[in-house]
Amino acid sequence: MSEECSASSCSSCGVSGCGSRKAPEEKPKTARANVKHVIGVVSGKGGVGKSLVTSLLASQMHKRGFKVGILDADITGPSIPKAFGMSGRLTADNDGINPGMTESGIKVMSVNLMLPQEDMAVAWRGPVITGLLKQFWEETNWEDVDYLFVDMPPGTSDIFLTVMQSFPLEGIVTVSAPQELVAMIVGKAVNLAHDMNVPVIGLVENMAYFKCDECDKEHFIFGEPQGRFVAKRYQIPAYSTLPIDPEFARLCDMGKVEDYDVADKLDPIIEQIEIASRLADAKKEGEQAQG
Ligand SMILES: Nc1ncnc2c1ncn2[C@@H]1O[C@H](COP(=O)(O)OP(=O)(O)OP(=O)(O)O)[C@@H](O)[C@H]1O
Ligand SMILES: [Mg+2]
Repeated sequence: MSEECSASSCSSCGVSGCGSRKAPEEKPKTARANVKHVIGVVSGKGGVGKSLVTSLLASQMHKRGFKVGILDADITGPSIPKAFGMSGRLTADNDGINPGMTESGIKVMSVNLMLPQEDMAVAWRGPVITGLLKQFWEETNWEDVDYLFVDMPPGTSDIFLTVMQSFPLEGIVTVSAPQELVAMIVGKAVNLAHDMNVPVIGLVENMAYFKCDECDKEHFIFGEPQGRFVAKRYQIPAYSTLPIDPEFARLCDMGKVEDYDVADKLDPIIEQIEIASRLADAKKEGEQAQG
């Protein structure tokens, strides 16, 4: 023990009786300090393609040269690690939990990377789940991340509210599938986001059409996509459609979602995310300048 160590406790050297030694500089909460932009991917309904859209947006942003992370907020039905072919358990150090890494280098935090087997069920009550989510945010060593995408579970329940209230979301992207109820379902998520002051950046209408291999024609199996009108009605600035493509399911099953070539289909959403980020940066700079 050094001669400085004379007081009753010290958290820095771990030696009983040491209290006067200078504590190491406290590391700021990693998420808040180093994650620049946080975008949620939501839908009012399950199984419409949120996880797929999250994976594609993250991959596209990564291909554009940004540092990207995914926080899998679907604690009871996580699907991100499987889509990216990730396995193995997360590690932790004194600073927090180290996220997993996809093949191309996207950081991922998911409960499935903490379980001994990927098919182990998680049957936890709401408070435990929301507590874990906050830990995912606050105690992950995200380090430098330009864009963190939050893959939400379906609906507007507990987790949705926790993420909206506890995470500094700059915007959300809503996902829908073409069906009659789409306006009402998108409307619920949009209204809730507005109530919580989170802007809705874009709407992705997934499975909007099927492109035939034989004739190369786009077939609108469910009728004309309604998303464009819904986006207009709710003043959502960006709108994209994705086709029904068996390749999605195949690559997700193989853990190779990063290999999907989405071409320019999500560009309107990505451009809007970048606009929202620039606005947020300008706002932050303005606030800092005002002191
Ligand atoms: N456009 C598409 N073409 C073909 N398959 C698709 C398409 N979109 C999604 N799928 C498949 O549908 C299934 C559900 O997609 P996904 O897991 O992304 O939905 P989700 O909204 O995240 O579901 P949940 O609400 O359960 O989290 C997956 O197996 C996925 O591969
Ligand atoms: Mg999902």
